[in-house]
Amino acid sequence: MTELLTSTADAAAPPRIDADWWRQATVYQIYPRSFADANGDGIGDLPGITSRVDYLARLGVDAVWLSPFYPSALADGGYDVDDYRNVDPRLGTLADFDAMIAALHAAGIRLIVDIVPNHSSDRHEWFRQALASPKGSPERDRYVFRDGLGANGELPPADWTSMFGGPAWEPVGDGQWYLHLFAPEQPDFNWRNKEVREDFLTTLRFWSDRGVDGFRVDVAHALAKHLPEDLPSEAELQAMDRATGTHLLWDRDEVHDIYADWRAVFDEYDPPRIAVAEAWVNPPSRRARYASASGLGQAFNFDLLEADFDAAAFRGIIVDNLDQAAASGSSTTWVFSNHDVVRHATRYGLPPNGDRPRVHNRAWLLSGGAEPALDAAAGLRRARAATLLMLALPGSAYLYQGEELGLGEVAAIPAESRQDPTFFRSPGVDVGRDGCRVPIPWTAAGDSFGFGTADAHLPQPEWFGALSVEAQSEDPSSTLNLYREALALRHRLQTDESLTWADSAEEVLHFRRANGWEAVANFGTTAVPLPAGEVLLASGPIDAAALPPETTVWIKAGS
Ligand code: NOJ
Repeated sequence: MTELLTSTADAAAPPRIDADWWRQATVYQIYPRSFADANGDGIGDLPGITSRVDYLARLGVDAVWLSPFYPSALADGGYDVDDYRNVDPRLGTLADFDAMIAALHAAGIRLIVDIVPNHSSDRHEWFRQALASPKGSPERDRYVFRDGLGANGELPPADWTSMFGGPAWEPVGDGQWYLHLFAPEQPDFNWRNKEVREDFLTTLRFWSDRGVDGFRVDVAHALAKHLPEDLPSEAELQAMDRATGTHLLWDRDEVHDIYADWRAVFDEYDPPRIAVAEAWVNPPSRRARYASASGLGQAFNFDLLEADFDAAAFRGIIVDNLDQAAASGSSTTWVFSNHDVVRHATRYGLPPNGDRPRVHNRAWLLSGGAEPALDAAAGLRRARAATLLMLALPGSAYLYQGEELGLGEVAAIPAESRQDPTFFRSPGVDVGRDGCRVPIPWTAAGDSFGFGTADAHLPQPEWFGALSVEAQSEDPSSTLNLYREALALRHRLQTDESLTWADSAEEVLHFRRANGWEAVANFGTTAVPLPAGEVLLASGPIDAAALPPETTVWIKAGS
C-alpha cells in the first residue's frame, strides 16, 4: 500500500494513485539546515537533500517531512517565517525545491512540508506593515495587538509568559503591544482576520501545485484565540480547563473551522493532500478532531516520546492510541525523536523521568557542569529495542534524521555556538534543543564529517565519526542497517491495521499482526524465552532460545 502508484486491474487505464498512502507510512524528518550542505557555507540546503535521495531510498522511507526551509532570520530555527511562498536563499531557490521534489518522487518518496500558521516572523511583510500602521488599522488586525496598561500603555496588557520563557507581550512604542506565544520575533497571527485565513489557503495551494504531498502543521492547536476585554493573569490562564475547547489560547473548538477550510483545499487535489497536526492537547481524546477526515486527517501522538522505557507504559499508550485512531477513522502516529526533544538514544540512557513533567526536553540533565548520569550503551540498546517495537505497530512511524545512526544528543555545545531561543530566554535553566540539531555525520573523518566542506553551523563532536553513515554502512550489526532491514521488512509486512496481544510476562510486550508478523520486546533486566517462529530481525544479539534484556525481535509465526 505504500507504493507511489498502485496498478489497476485494467492495464489500459491510468494507474490509480493511492490516497491512503500515509496511513502506515514511514516518514523521515529532515531538519534542512543540518542534513547536507551542498554549497559549502556550513548550512544544509535543498541541493544537499537532492544529493542524498539515494540514501533515503536505500534507507527505505516512504516520505520526507521537511522542517521549514522558508526565508527566515532563524530566531527559532526557521519557525519564524518571513515569506511562506519562497525558499531561504541560504538553502536554495524555488528551482532547487522543484529539483528536490522531482528527485524524491522519482525515488518513490513523498514530501510533506512544515507549515507555520500560528505566527510569522517579525520580518514578514505584513508585520512590517503592521508596525508602520496606526493602532486600529487593517494592517494591525492581521496580528494580535493590544493597548498596554498604565497611563501611556507602558505596562504589558497581561503578565503572560511565552513558551520559550520571558514575557509573551512585546511593546511597539506607541502604547500598543503584540502577542507572541513563542519568541518576540514570532508575532502571533489573528486568525479571525479574513486576509490571514485566505492567505494560508493560497500558501497551501502554492505548495500543493508544486507537488508537495502534504503538510505538517506547526502548533495546530493555537490558532484560534479568544482574548476578552479584561485579560486574565498568567496564573488564571494556567488554571483554565483545557479539556473543554474553551481555553482562551489553546485547543479551542473553533480552530476546526479553519481546518475545514484547509480540508476543502486538500481535497481539490488527487490524491488529496494530507496533513498531520502538531497538537499538544489534553486529554488525548481531543486529538480526534484534528485527526478526523474532515479536518487535518492525522495528528501526532507524542505519548511514546514522553514515556520512560517501560513495558506497562508502552502497552497502555499503544492500546489507547490504536483505540483513538480507530474512533477517529485516522491512523495513529508514532514518534520517539524530533527536532524539539533530546534524542531517544540519549533519553533512554538517562535516569527514568517518572512523574516529572516535560520528559522529552531533558536537556538540562546533560548540562550544568555536573557529570551526567548517562549510560550511552544502555540508551542505544533501549532505543534500538523501542524503535523495532514501534516499527511493527500499525500506523505511521515518524523518524528524525540521525536516529537511524543511533546518534545521541550533543551536550557539549559552547554557549557562543548555541542558537535555540530557549537557551537565551531561560538562561541557565534550559540549554534548549540545539543538541539534537547538530549536522549529521556522513563520513568517518574529514570536513564536518561529510556534511559539507565548511565547519558545520553547530559544532559536531569527535564521536560523530564512529556513528557516521560511512562507518555504519557496511557493518551488518550497525544501527543504520537495523533501520534499513526493518524498513524494508515493514514495507512488505504492513498490511491491515489490526494488532492482537499475546500473553507475556509483565516486562515483555508481544503482539501479532494479521499476517503472522510478531514483535516481542523484553523491557526487563533478565532474558526470557524466545517465542517460536522464524526470527526475522532483532534489535541486538540473541541466541537461539532466549530473548536478552532490552531487546526486541520480529518473528514470523510458524505456518
Ligand atoms: C513547534 C516546533 O516543532 C518548534 O520547533 C517551534 O519552536 C515551535 N513550534 C514554534 O513554532
